[in-house]
Amino acid sequence: MKVISEQIGHILIIRSNEDLCKLRNFAEEQLSKKKHIRTVLLQTNKVSKEERVPSLRYFMGEKKFETIHTEYGCKFYLNPAKVFFSPRLSFERQRIANEVNKNEKIINFFSGVGPFSICIAKKVPSSVIHSIELNYAAYQYMIKNIEVNKCNNKVIPYLGDALEIVKKQFINYADRIILPLPMLADKALPLAIKSLSNEEGIIHWQISEYVGKKENKNDLGKIVRQRLERVVKESKLKNKIIIQLIRKIRSLSPNIAHIAVDLRVEKTKV
Ligand SMILES: C[S@@+](CC[C@H](N)C(=O)[O-])C[C@H]1O[C@@H](n2cnc3c(N)ncnc32)[C@H](O)[C@@H]1O
Repeated sequence: MKVISEQIGHILIIRSNEDLCKLRNFAEEQLSKKKHIRTVLLQTNKVSKEERVPSLRYFMGEKKFETIHTEYGCKFYLNPAKVFFSPRLSFERQRIANEVNKNEKIINFFSGVGPFSICIAKKVPSSVIHSIELNYAAYQYMIKNIEVNKCNNKVIPYLGDALEIVKKQFINYADRIILPLPMLADKALPLAIKSLSNEEGIIHWQISEYVGKKENKNDLGKIVRQRLERVVKESKLKNKIIIQLIRKIRSLSPNIAHIAVDLRVEKTKV
């Protein structure tokens, strides 16, 4: 039986094409074997376009949709039926937090309930992370999570469209930019560059790409380079952009990968 499952706090989210009877047996088994799972939600394939919230419906156990997810000592309050959250990004959050230097000014364009920003603030308390989010529910949870994780004055929340807010408030400002939304990756990159102080710094660019079934590391490098070249050409970017790291975060479907790309940006192209 093929069931894709993901645990967020006390909630198990399951996705499968199996018939409901088999899924009920699976859910019952999970609830009885794993005491920390108290609610099972069923995910249909739909994900809301802009806010990336999966369509979830109650399936079994307690009818409690709000949960607290703990990750590397950080606590995140959230309701997975109202906001995007994925525990499968936890390594990526720690990886980026480990890259940050003291006193960095950072902008997180697409913050969700705040996990990337809070992980960084916990690791590097002298940094400041301006954290923008469009979904009101996610923004409210971000405020709560900032407080719970004692990151006040380190993670600064903003409600609204990052592309508007950054244009108005953050041109020529930051040392590092986080772009954790593949859907807007290409559109956001030129503005992200402009928001770097003197157009120099680091951009964590997350993209999704067709990689085919037999993907290997060289293919991934080629795919990312071609994608970046296309964006540079289309947006007429004049900066020198160096790819520092390429890493597959997860599979979004059998042929589509979610990829982390670290870019070092310098002012002039050579
Ligand atoms: C893929 S989620 C990532 C959230 C968070 N970084 C995380 O890892 O949990 C992308 C988030 O960007 C938000 N979003 C989408 N478009 C946006 C925009 N134009 N400005 C600000 N936030 C936006 C969505 O509501 C969603 O919460």
